[in-house]
Amino acid sequence: MSNAALAPIDMNKLPKHIAVIMDGNGRWAKKNKVKIALGHRAGTENLREIIRSSSDLGIEALSIFAFSTENWSRPKVEVDALMQLILEFFSSEIDELCEKKVRITMLGDITQLPERQLLALREAEDRTRENGGLRLNIAINYGARAEMVRMVKQIAEKVQAGEISLDSITEDTLSSHLYTAGLPQIDLLIRTSGELRLSNFLLYQCAYAEFVFPPMLWPDYSLKDYHESICEFQKRKRRFGSREE
Ligand code: IPE
Ligand code: IPE
Ligand code: MG
Repeated sequence: MSNAALAPIDMNKLPKHIAVIMDGNGRWAKKNKVKIALGHRAGTENLREIIRSSSDLGIEALSIFAFSTENWSRPKVEVDALMQLILEFFSSEIDELCEKKVRITMLGDITQLPERQLLALREAEDRTRENGGLRLNIAINYGARAEMVRMVKQIAEKVQAGEISLDSITEDTLSSHLYTAGLPQIDLLIRTSGELRLSNFLLYQCAYAEFVFPPMLWPDYSLKDYHESICEFQKRKRRFGSREE
């Protein structure tokens, strides 16, 4: 696609941190009368382009919801297909991501994943740790409630050990014990497929996010649509509770 066809993004008003809930692969598979695994596979094609474009635009952080703590309850064939895709995605993308200086961080408890996936994800984090480009967060076995339980336990342990006092706990203390520690809060959250909910994604970090809900199913959500979502964000008036002059 030529860049001329893309919506004109204001480079001075870029969202710092974008979160994406890639939803609609199942319905896309049904609509196209193919197996569910093919729906998920189709959903990795545009993901590549969106990551590339985010890096080229100079977006600071992109957080992608790939597999939730609740998705384990899906049929085994589907979970297996998703696990296989995770492996394929990292082995095919890692070189280019490294070249683009993308730094990969996993959000979620990846220790619960099968050994091969766990090793591949750890390797992706290790190989890209020193990179100073786009911060690419991939949420796998992620749930915001589980993330908050983990955060509370970590802080409570520090209080118990006398490392910090109760009085010294601030919002920054909480933020710094989330998987997204050190990153800006979410400016823009995109969820495709017309579902209007968060489904346990980044609850704390989305406190002041702008929400965009494109109606198309994830595999049909193109780079052009992504740029339109960013433009829509740029039209929003963000007040953060104060009075506009
Ligand atoms: C989102 O697509 C991808 C994952 C949850 C991994 P879905 O598989 O949820 O698609 P629908 O909602 O069934 O259409
Ligand atoms: C959220 O989508 C999880 C991912 C996109 C990975 P779901 O399709 O699992 O969410 P619900 O079940 O519609 O809330
Ligand atoms: Mg869904």
